[in-house]
Amino acid sequence: MHVPSLIEKKREGGELADGEIRSLIAAFTDGDLPDYQMSALAMAIFFRGMNADETASLTRAMLESGEVFSWPDDHPPIVDKHSTGGIGDKVSLVLAPLLACDEVWVPMISGRGLGITGGTLDKLEAIPGFNVNVSQADALAQLEKIGVVMMGQTADICPADKKLYALRDVTGTVPSIPLIVASIMSKKLAESLDRLVLDVKHGSGAFMKSEDDARLLADAMRVVGESMGVRVTTLLNSMDEPLGHSVGNALEVREAIDTLQGRGPGDLVAITLDLATEVAEASREQLASWLDDGTAWEKFVDLVEAQGGGATCLDRYAEIHPAPVVRRIESDRAGTLARVDAASVGHASLELGAGRARAEDAVDFSVGFSEIAKCGQALSRGDTLAVVHARSGSDADEAERRFRASLTFE
Ligand code: URA
Repeated sequence: MHVPSLIEKKREGGELADGEIRSLIAAFTDGDLPDYQMSALAMAIFFRGMNADETASLTRAMLESGEVFSWPDDHPPIVDKHSTGGIGDKVSLVLAPLLACDEVWVPMISGRGLGITGGTLDKLEAIPGFNVNVSQADALAQLEKIGVVMMGQTADICPADKKLYALRDVTGTVPSIPLIVASIMSKKLAESLDRLVLDVKHGSGAFMKSEDDARLLADAMRVVGESMGVRVTTLLNSMDEPLGHSVGNALEVREAIDTLQGRGPGDLVAITLDLATEVAEASREQLASWLDDGTAWEKFVDLVEAQGGGATCLDRYAEIHPAPVVRRIESDRAGTLARVDAASVGHASLELGAGRARAEDAVDFSVGFSEIAKCGQALSRGDTLAVVHARSGSDADEAERRFRASLTFE
């Protein structure tokens, strides 16, 4: 393999053959292809794109760079969902235990937040004791017992993606559809799934700003998944305003707990049921009843206990991770709220310390916003727009300023 020729071929808009892509990814994983050549190739892919065959080859090569889950022959349907990420998106915390009330297994591998979007692993770790580092053997044992495991990507799963994602992050090559498809789908396909539902977001707080781009990404992911024998459905969802009423790790866990106890906000419940219905055996009505009657909540408690979390702390979760400053932001006018800009709220939450600027940064579980008002809500002067949870008065001042700036009244 002459790597410079392959980089030039892609730079000129040519098509890379399956064998060429496999050799490139294998050499990169083994450390035989240096970062500078892989960065150049990623940039060529960013500008020239990849066709469906190349994207499938890249996904398969990244998948095969590591271990793939293997399940017993008589396993129940293996299902999962993936979201392209958003602000206040705590759906996984509700959906995984909800699906496990059904006759399916849910081996959910999630990521951490980066930039303004939150990550499921950070939210899980806001539950004291919860361990997201689970081996394949332990994951299988837990699935056999309770039907659900929520974990991070281990060193053995898609190592090529781990290396390539880190490079893309610092070379301006993240927003490339074939690279995103291969990155997301290789990790999901490593779960050896039967069914996958993809929640592809569009709007201010999403990766894909326009619905058209979101549709292109959704279709590309579906085609790759189906070419590998997985039943893939895609739902496009707006991320123009935060999901639910809370943004921030522990605050989102609180809202997920409320939802699992049948007291969830309408938009969060609706999207959870929309997604769950796509991969469940049970009907939407049955799934909704498991949220209302405590069945999903009991499954969540089982999940937390199985992964080392103190389930007793869930009863008094609202007292855990208190922020030093908690301040109500009141409306200074009457009117209907036309917009709560998701990206601005995400930035404000990031600045409070709920997110990270670099992958190795720590997050502060306690900070963020709760009681966020929703678009379309009619407000009087003095009504609550949101409650800010901050580390200091000056942080709260800045967050309040940013939050107010995110609002548009009709
Ligand atoms: N999430 C991933 O895992 N990879 C991407 O490329 C984008 C989002």
